Amino acid sequence: MVKQKKILITGVNGLVGYRLSEYLREMTSWSVIGTSRKKGPMVDCIADLTKKVDVERIKKSIQPDVIIHTAAIVGANECDKYPEICYTTNVDATANLCEIFSNSYFIYFSTCAVYDTPTGRCNELCETSASNYYVQTKLEAEEYVKKMNNHVILRPSVIFGFVDHHKNNNYFMQLLEIIRSKRVMYSPRDQFFNPIYVDTVVDILVKIIESDVQGIYNIGSTEVISKYEFNSLLMEIFDLDRNYIEGVTSEFFSVKRPQMGTISSEKIQRDLPYHIPTLIEMFERLHSTSKEKIEAYLISS
Ligand SMILES: NC(=O)c1ccc[n+]([C@@H]2O[C@H](COP(=O)([O-])OP(=O)(O)OC[C@H]3O[C@@H](n4cnc5c(N)ncnc54)[C@H](OP(=O)(O)O)[C@@H]3O)[C@@H](O)[C@H]2O)c1
Repeated sequence: MVKQKKILITGVNGLVGYRLSEYLREMTSWSVIGTSRKKGPMVDCIADLTKKVDVERIKKSIQPDVIIHTAAIVGANECDKYPEICYTTNVDATANLCEIFSNSYFIYFSTCAVYDTPTGRCNELCETSASNYYVQTKLEAEEYVKKMNNHVILRPSVIFGFVDHHKNNNYFMQLLEIIRSKRVMYSPRDQFFNPIYVDTVVDILVKIIESDVQGIYNIGSTEVISKYEFNSLLMEIFDLDRNYIEGVTSEFFSVKRPQMGTISSEKIQRDLPYHIPTLIEMFERLHSTSKEKIEAYLISS
C-alpha cells in the first residue's frame, strides 16, 4: 500500500502542473494542493511565489511532504523580453520555496537547454552553460535546490501536450495556434531534440514520488528527431494540412538555440526503473485523449 502523501504543486495553470494535478487528484489518495497566480480548475491557493509572504501563507494551509515546482517564466523569448520578471519568477520564487519548505522533498523543473554542446546526447554529467537568459535563471535556481537535503532536479526536453483551459504557449499549442490562424510554421530541419509527452512526464513524476530518488535527471524521448520531422509527424497523426509547415535551417531564426539539443535519459530509466515509451506511443496517447478537443480548438476563433 502506497503511503499517504501531502503534495504541493506550483504552476497548476500550466501544462505540467495542470496535468499532474488532474492525474493525482483522480488516480491517487494523496492530498494535493495546487497553487498559481490566477484562478483555475486546479488552483486551491492563489499566490505569487515571488512574494515571501505569499509562500508563508501557503505553508499555513499545507506542510507538504513533496513539492513539485513547475511555476516559471518559460522560454528564451519571454525571458529576453521581460528579464526582471523572469529573474524574480525563476530564481527568487525558487529560493523562497526552498527556504520556507526546507524539510520537504523538492522536485524542481529545470531544462535540458542547460547543456549546449556541439555533439548533444548529454547525460547529467555534461558541462552546463547559459546560452540565453532563461537558461541562466534556471541554472541559478538549481543552485538553491541543490542545497536542499532531499531534492530532484529534472532537466526535461521540450514537453508537448494539449491544454484547453487557458492560453498556453507550449510547443504543440504554438503549432496549433499557427494552423488555427492559417499561418505557416517554419521548422528547423537541423535542430534535433527529444520531445516528451506531458502525460509521460506525469508518469515519471509519480514514480519519482513513490521511489524517493535524489539528484539530477534528464527526461526526454529516447529517440532523436528534428523539429521539422517531429512537427510533420504530429500533423500526419492528427490529419492536419501539411501546407502549414515549412522546413528551414537555423539561420532563419534570430534566437540562438543549440542544434544538437539532445539528451540521454538512461539514468532516470535505470534508477526508477521506468521505460520511456516511443514517440509514436506518446502521439497515440495524445491522439486518444485530445483528438476531439484539438479539432474543436482548430475551428474556434
Ligand atoms: N514546456 C516545456 O517544453 C518545458 C521544457 C523544459 C522545461 N520546462 C520547465 O518545466 C516547467 C513547467 O513547464 P510548463 O510548460 O508547464 O510551464 P507553463 O505552462 O508556462 O506554466 C507555468 C505556470 O507558472 C505560473 N506562474 C508564473 N509565474 C508565477 C508566479 N510568480 N507565482 C506563481 N505561479 C507563477 C503560471 O500560472 P499563473 O499565470 O496562473 O500564475 C504558469 O501557468 C517550467 O519550470 C519550465 O521551465 C518546460
